[in-house]
Amino acid sequence: MHITGKTSLVGLIGWPVEHSLSPMMQNAAFTKVGLDWVYVPLPVRPDNVPQALAGLSALNFVGVNVTVPHKQAVMRYMNELSDSAKIIGAVNTICLQQGKYIGHNTDATGFLNSLLEANCHPQGMRVAVLGAGGAARAVVFALAQAKAASVIVLNRTAERAAFLVDDLVETFPNNALHFAALTPQSIMDLNNQLDLVVNTTSVGMSPNIEDCPWPSDVAMPSQTIFYDLVYRPLETVFLARAREAGAKTIGGLGMLIHQGAAAFERWTGQAAPIAVMRQACMDGLG
Ligand code: ATR
Repeated sequence: MHITGKTSLVGLIGWPVEHSLSPMMQNAAFTKVGLDWVYVPLPVRPDNVPQALAGLSALNFVGVNVTVPHKQAVMRYMNELSDSAKIIGAVNTICLQQGKYIGHNTDATGFLNSLLEANCHPQGMRVAVLGAGGAARAVVFALAQAKAASVIVLNRTAERAAFLVDDLVETFPNNALHFAALTPQSIMDLNNQLDLVVNTTSVGMSPNIEDCPWPSDVAMPSQTIFYDLVYRPLETVFLARAREAGAKTIGGLGMLIHQGAAAFERWTGQAAPIAVMRQACMDGLG
């Protein structure tokens, strides 16, 4: 990659950002399609968010991705918000157009496209979502858009799941969005009535790779599809147990790639080279 006097700038604001795969993934994509663009890490302390955002326009950035912990904090500085960003309550992609800040959320599209790529079509499915944080909001929104038959949100802190359901129930067909506490009993109560289970919690993520959000004493049904948003490690204990039970599994790398691809397409107006982006992520994960 060569930086020239005309190179266009995009990047990632978050705190920290050093473990992100996005710079490798996006720069590989720019090289592949022959764009004179570069994607840079922009570590921004929480108290510097407004100054960092103002600087992007001053420095002629085309856009940025936004990651933890700034996805909600940046919202108030946007001139426009996409419907998905409004409903999910988080921005992960900003486009700068003539000094205007337009906030998008590509996590929901990324999740949905990763499902379709895995040949999983959520229309009509009965789904359990484990967790009720920002990632869960994007997943529930995507499932509503894809016309899942029902979703139950199971969270350690039941009140947080209740807030999620309150915020999103109107977007859901037939109000078939419910919540419960994430306990062995609530999972047992649902067993054999689920088509898809999505883990959006951080349980099982490196370095705590022995942990699993599914109770150890509850069997995983073989006819259910298990999806883990965690991609470090590529196969979590949650997915390994599901595979051993004979179930279909989907790992979290697909969502990372497809949310990045949707951001790439918003900034550049060109189709994202998915295979190259996947390879860059695999290289980054070693
Ligand atoms: P993200 O934006 O990635 O979703 P988050 O908003 O911090 O991150 O949400 C993390 C989710 O993982 C929450 O649902 C959290 O449960 P609580 O709301 O009860 O905190 C869940 N989580 C994190 N650690 C967990 C653990 N050890 N057991 C169960 N759930 C956990």
